[in-house]
This record gives sequence, C-alpha cells and structure tokens, in this order.
Amino acid sequence: MARRTIVTGSASGIGRATADLLRARGEQVIGVDLRDAEVRADLGTPAGRRDAVESLAAALPDGVDSVVACAGIAAQEPATVAVNYFGTTALLAGLRPLLARGTDPRAALVASITATSALDEATVAACLDGDEERAVACAAEAAPYEIYPSSKAALARWVRRTCLAPGWADAGIPLNAVGPGVVRTPMTDGLFSDPARKAAMDEAVPMPLNGYAGPETVAAALAWLTSPENTHVTGQLLFVDGGAEVALRGEGLR
Ligand code: NAI
Repeated sequence: MARRTIVTGSASGIGRATADLLRARGEQVIGVDLRDAEVRADLGTPAGRRDAVESLAAALPDGVDSVVACAGIAAQEPATVAVNYFGTTALLAGLRPLLARGTDPRAALVASITATSALDEATVAACLDGDEERAVACAAEAAPYEIYPSSKAALARWVRRTCLAPGWADAGIPLNAVGPGVVRTPMTDGLFSDPARKAAMDEAVPMPLNGYAGPETVAAALAWLTSPENTHVTGQLLFVDGGAEVALRGEGLR
C-alpha cells in the first residue's frame, strides 16, 4: 500500500515541494492549507485546527504514516504565534492517534534558523504552557522582530519536550524539525526585491554553502526524516541552512 502522508502548507513553497516530492515517490499525499488543498482549513484558529483533524480522521480511517507540518507565516504580528506554533503543535498532537495506527509512523515540522535569534522568553514560555491567549498577548508586547523567532524557538523546544513523551518514542514515532536558512519561496519574494532588506538578511543569515536554498532542498530533508529509513533520529532540529548556524554560533556544541 502507498505510504499515506499529510502535508500542511501544501499549496506553496516548502510544503508544496514536499507534497510534489512525496507524490513523485508514489505516496498518497493529503494536503492541508487555506486554499488549493484536499483539506482546506485555517490552522491559525482552534476551530480550524479541530475541523482539520476531524476531516483528516474521516479521510484516513486506517491511520496515517507520516505528517509533515510546513504551514506558517512570517508576519511581525501576534497572529504569527497562533499559526506557526499552535497551528503546528495542536495539529501534530491531534493527529498522533492517527499516526499510532500507521506503518512506520513519522512526524516532522518546519522551524527556522531564526530559532537561534533574539526572542521573547515570555512568548516562548506561554507557547510551551499551551496557553494560546497568553502567547498572543505576550507577542503583542514583544518587539515585532522577536515574534517569528519566538514561534520557531518554541517549536524547536516543543519537539525536544514531546519526542520522548508517552505516545511518541514509546510508540515508535520519531518527531523532528528542520531549521531552514533562507529559502526561495513566495514567503521571501519581497526580501530579494528590496536591496536594503536583502543586505540585512545576508548579514543575519550567511549561507556560505551554495547560497539560498530552493524549497526542494528542504523537502528532501523532510522526506528523509519522515521516511521508514529514519529509525533513530528524534528530537532534532536539522539545520538546512548552507552553514548559517555554524557561521553564526561557531564550533561549540554547548
Ligand atoms: P509559503 O508562504 O510559500 O507557504 C506557506 C503555506 O502555508 C502557504 O500555502 C499558506 O497558505 C499556508 N498557510 C499560512 N497560514 C496558514 C493557515 N493559517 N492555515 C493553513 N495554512 C496556512 O512559505 P514557505 O517559505 O514555504 O514556508 C513554509 C514554512 O517554512 C513556514 O513555516 C516558514 O516559517 C518556514 N521557513 C521558511 C523559510 C524561508 O526562507 N522561506 C526559512 C525558514 C523557515
């Protein structure tokens, strides 16, 4: 039977490239997005997430084999926390029972190199407490440029916290994140057309190895993390960033 995979953010960019890659490998992909997807849902709201989980459970009564959560936005506004953190974690938690019925079940999400940037600890703490209202309120008080990194750092920590919790490692389900550097997608289009913003981005995210990535590069990493070949990698944030994380943080691991 073809491997059954759910991909969020499947209408564009990294999610679309992932869906295309997995379909080309013969997998059955069920996309979730605001538009142009098998399941249309707004993952920025509790009701949208609930509807998405219900629709997916109805469409996949025998379970799902992998979930790849790519949907996200980069706006410097509090709603970014709702979409990026809660839209990802609530969906993955809601789909875990479906994964538990799958074959070689795997899950992965998309964090970012910015998980290592300046962030707002209050927002991150509220996210990890699962308190969406407080997280959005904290984000409204944070510096706007800290909101997106906070949502992504919280995701990376959630992966580490959750991967060994009951129902994940003990059920044979690896849970990982990728941390892309700058990827050429509709999300970053505006950065390339503005020389000042491009210069700032190049300084913030230096990519000595092969420069900006295409979405298919990140898709390949997500495809491996969620493939049956991945039997022992869990809780990791795999930077797919042309060396940016090493350039910024150096050789030490602690
Ligand atoms: P994109 O804008 O091309 O695609 C994002 C997709 O998510 C779109 O199809 C959009 O409709 C969907 N989406 C947004 N809000 C949603 C919601 N409320 N409910 C359901 N779907 C929603 O962006 P891209 O670049 O493909 O981004 C994918 C992920 O990669 C995001 O989580 C982003 O933060 C992350 N990322 C992107 C980087 C880049 O340089 N492009 C770098 C690091 C991380």
